[in-house]
Amino acid sequence: MEPYADVVESYASFAREAADSPCFVEWSNGVVGDPEIQELIATLPPVKQQPNLVYAAARWHGAPAPGPYAGLREVLLTSWDAVRGTILARSTQTNEVGRLATLLPALAQCSPLDGGPLALLEVGASAGLNLFPDHYRYVWRHEDGTSYSLGEGPELSCDITGDVPLPAAVPAIGWRGGVDLNPLDVTDEDAMAWLTNLVWPEQDDRRDRLAAAIEVAAADPPLLVAGDLVDTLPDLLDQLPGDVSPVVFHSAVIAYLEPARREDFHDLMSGLVRAGRCRWVSNEGANVLPRISRSMPESRQRSTRFVLGVDGHAVALTHGHGRTMEWL
Ligand SMILES: C[S@@+](CC[C@H](N)C(=O)[O-])C[C@H]1O[C@@H](n2cnc3c(N)ncnc32)[C@H](O)[C@@H]1O
Repeated sequence: MEPYADVVESYASFAREAADSPCFVEWSNGVVGDPEIQELIATLPPVKQQPNLVYAAARWHGAPAPGPYAGLREVLLTSWDAVRGTILARSTQTNEVGRLATLLPALAQCSPLDGGPLALLEVGASAGLNLFPDHYRYVWRHEDGTSYSLGEGPELSCDITGDVPLPAAVPAIGWRGGVDLNPLDVTDEDAMAWLTNLVWPEQDDRRDRLAAAIEVAAADPPLLVAGDLVDTLPDLLDQLPGDVSPVVFHSAVIAYLEPARREDFHDLMSGLVRAGRCRWVSNEGANVLPRISRSMPESRQRSTRFVLGVDGHAVALTHGHGRTMEWL
């Protein structure tokens, strides 16, 4: 067995997944062929060896991106102590507001019939940028080239297929807040610079969207609590005002939990929904919440897209950053 087989496997796999970034593909292939760099990465705790985090830290310390593998290599070899410190101190908390274009139809389904306001409680909120669905203009494009738009603000667009229940109006939001292991403060320049640094090199559109989203949230910073989502959620729900309809939602979060903990979370949410304490909108990778994935038609169960769920039932397949949505 190669001495750094785990590192090689993880970076080879990332080279296959990172097709959206030719730079990261080149960097990953570079690491796969470079035992000296593998040795450095292998000194990190396993959860910190992930390419996204190592590359973000190297960029933070000057590796030009997009740029050749030689630039990454030089920064890792000459500034390893600083890069390592950043890797250990920070994490990947990508906050992608593009996901709102896929979340909004599901959130609208949770609106009370009288049009009363929702309370949005996001678990794994990062900087809470997705807590402002009422501050964007949505453009949903149908396959036949027609489109439907709604709302005011920075534009979020999404290609849709199937009978998406596009809402007539953006739901009213009466309360917004969230929980995260490490909430990021939208008014903290350093934290926002790190968040921006996590966007892949060639994705200027995502960087622009993030800058606009930070501006939206910074105008009225959301309430974010530090803690574990399973442990804190029931208490947080207890603290909501009485005149709002609570929706607990999350996207790209539950994969961070150990499999047994994911099941605990599913049980917790099912119980809260059954007790009428909240509605539940989930948007997670395929099989992260297997009971939800299994509620899809069998023909869709091998999809690698995210699964959008309402109250524990799959309603759509979505692109991980909100670019597409197929209603089931
Ligand atoms: C990839 S980010 C997604 C952020 C946001 N939901 C979005 O869609 O843009 C995942 C977030 O989940 C948080 N997280 C992971 N495990 C958690 C836990 N057990 N409790 C609370 N937050 C957690 C991380 O700190 C991180 O901010």
